[in-house]
Amino acid sequence: MLQHFFNPSSVAVVGASQNPAKIGYDILNNIVRYGYSGDVYPINPTAKEILGYQAYPDLASVPSKIDVAVVAVPAGKVMDVLEQCGKKKVDSVVIITAGFKETGPQGARLEQELVTRSRELGIRVVGPNCLGIIDTASTLNASFAAGMPLAGHIGFFSQSGAMCVAILDWALGENVGFSRFVSLGNKMDISETEIMLSMGQDENTRVILGYLESIEDGPRFMKAARQVSKTKPIIIIKSGTTSAGAKAASSHTGALAGSDHAYRAAFKQSGIIRAESMRALFGYAMAFASQPLPRGPSLAIITNSGGPGILAADACDRSSLHLVPTKKETADRLREFLPPSASVYNPIDIIGDASHERYQKTLEVVLNDDLIHTILILLTPTAAVDAEAVARGIVSLAKDADKPIITVFMGERGVRGARKILQDHAIPSYDYPEDSITALDAMLSYRRWREKPERQYRHFEADTRRVREIFASVVKQHRHDLIESEAREILKAYRFRLPESRIAKTTKGAVRTASEIGYPVVMKIASPDVLHKSDMGGVRVGIENEAMVEEAFFDITSNIQLRQPEARILGVMVQEMVPQGKEVILGITRDMQFGPMIMFGLGGIYVEVLKDVAFRIAPLSVESADAMIRDIRSFPLLRGVRGEPPADIDAIRDALLRLSQMAIDFPEIIEADINPLLVRPEGLGAVAVDSRITIQE
Ligand SMILES: Nc1ncnc2c1ncn2[C@@H]1O[C@H](COP(=O)(O)OP(=O)(O)O)[C@@H](O)[C@H]1O
Ligand SMILES: [Mg+2]
Repeated sequence: MLQHFFNPSSVAVVGASQNPAKIGYDILNNIVRYGYSGDVYPINPTAKEILGYQAYPDLASVPSKIDVAVVAVPAGKVMDVLEQCGKKKVDSVVIITAGFKETGPQGARLEQELVTRSRELGIRVVGPNCLGIIDTASTLNASFAAGMPLAGHIGFFSQSGAMCVAILDWALGENVGFSRFVSLGNKMDISETEIMLSMGQDENTRVILGYLESIEDGPRFMKAARQVSKTKPIIIIKSGTTSAGAKAASSHTGALAGSDHAYRAAFKQSGIIRAESMRALFGYAMAFASQPLPRGPSLAIITNSGGPGILAADACDRSSLHLVPTKKETADRLREFLPPSASVYNPIDIIGDASHERYQKTLEVVLNDDLIHTILILLTPTAAVDAEAVARGIVSLAKDADKPIITVFMGERGVRGARKILQDHAIPSYDYPEDSITALDAMLSYRRWREKPERQYRHFEADTRRVREIFASVVKQHRHDLIESEAREILKAYRFRLPESRIAKTTKGAVRTASEIGYPVVMKIASPDVLHKSDMGGVRVGIENEAMVEEAFFDITSNIQLRQPEARILGVMVQEMVPQGKEVILGITRDMQFGPMIMFGLGGIYVEVLKDVAFRIAPLSVESADAMIRDIRSFPLLRGVRGEPPADIDAIRDALLRLSQMAIDFPEIIEADINPLLVRPEGLGAVAVDSRITIQE
């Protein structure tokens, strides 16, 4: 896929220059100086020869076929070059030139014209406004980057050219090699999704690293990421998370969802490892590119100093790794050569006077312990230890190891040489224990994600015709918000359980309805204008008799007349009271990039205070629904604490899956809330007692 970009047999540089100050010179220079063996054609209107290569005035004059054209001419000339490519049957173009949508509306228009024309001509484009592309296997460096990455197995793509420069510089310093390097620029055509898929197919790429500010087509991106993640880890740092949009939203779900929630959910659901910082991105890259994935959570720490060992243990506690006690055989074997003051119980503290031999012997023993899945080696440069000898010892043992080994050699001057030895032999070396644990934790969760069984999806029967009818009548009335009775109809169409409810227009009517439904009942204001009924004194629960109905009818209507006089009052809803249950909230909100998103959390009237919610992108699989239920902090409450029976978690899952199906079936739903869904004890189901739906045409 995209072969002509990464492994072309011929390259043309349009805008090649003899002037070393020009980008057109840098690109050509990078192509010729790093060993690219294909044909190279500098295109320059006047020059006869550049850097020893015959130059041509335009693409048409080049005598043979061109696989890829790298374009570095002024923005206003790019369309003409595109036309030339069309005529010359060049199907792959890298537009380095800046001055398009990143500059504003005029530039955006110019870029849109390029999009339209390149599609008509069947030309694929990387860029514009990018640094270029590099492939270390074909040794093509078609970029104006300062230098060539070492050959390796990390594929890197970035939406920022500056990030490419920073990563390249870091990698050269850390001896980390790359397979491919792609600066996406403005992504007018080829985006992160295609590049991820092409790196997924590239045999030289084992780990994919990315820097992103936005994602073009969320669902397509997730599908591609899921496919590729099955075999190769994808590590992405996402910047530019805003919460401005959330403020604009009216419903609970809308108010609680920011686009970062969508990215977080999308990454979780497609196995992408999210790096929260550049530091984490570098740290993950080192570990994933050089070490096998841990087979399980158990970690052994070998250290010559207590402090860093404790820091690592703390970090371990905050992760999904386990600091398992050393098994007896291992402890006995360690006791054979470690001094009595050493600790053999993990962290294994070989104490301050440890020599490189002691490190070596300890590591050998721990490597042979099959209960240990991962090893972290900490070292502080005491006078007693030859750090470089320790590093050499680790390198020799790591050769045959089938579990990840990572190191933290703390300090600087005393460990610089040792770190270099480790880097040269692809043993990850971190500055601080916390970074190493975070990297291992990411590896473990990625392994677990990869081992998950195939996702299952459920499909429910639903009266979609009825839903369409209701939406049509709402639109006809130029409304967006469904009134509660309409929202209930929608839920009914998707077979949600609902309490018996009827609107009474008079006190007498309310008394009659309450006795028909049966006490206790709940009474609520019925008005399209009252959003949060409780806040307005519009809800009364636990009504046991006629007198209470009369009082509640009066209280509720007068509260609303007092506090929201303009509100239209349709009456008072009399509703079957659902016996005590756990209050949870379910919701739909729509994300610009990823489409419908489902929210789940602890519900009731304190939802926006607690903000204990989880998000996933629809359609939800059974596994995603289960995962998001477990994700909330108060999940233990649902499982039942202090002798309380567990809540009916199956009923919650079922409700989430129905809501997800509804969100997919009806793209016009922009927001929806069920708050609360009252969840009864296990086996007794769940009832949606309050709901709201907002649609757009
Ligand atoms: N049918 C019902 N059975 C039991 N409790 C209910 C019922 N309806 C509402 N409640 C309780 O009243 C609270 C507020 O009611 P709700 O209809 O959600 O109003 P709002 O969210 O607009 O304030 C709910 O969180 C729940 O605790
Ligand atoms: Mg409510």
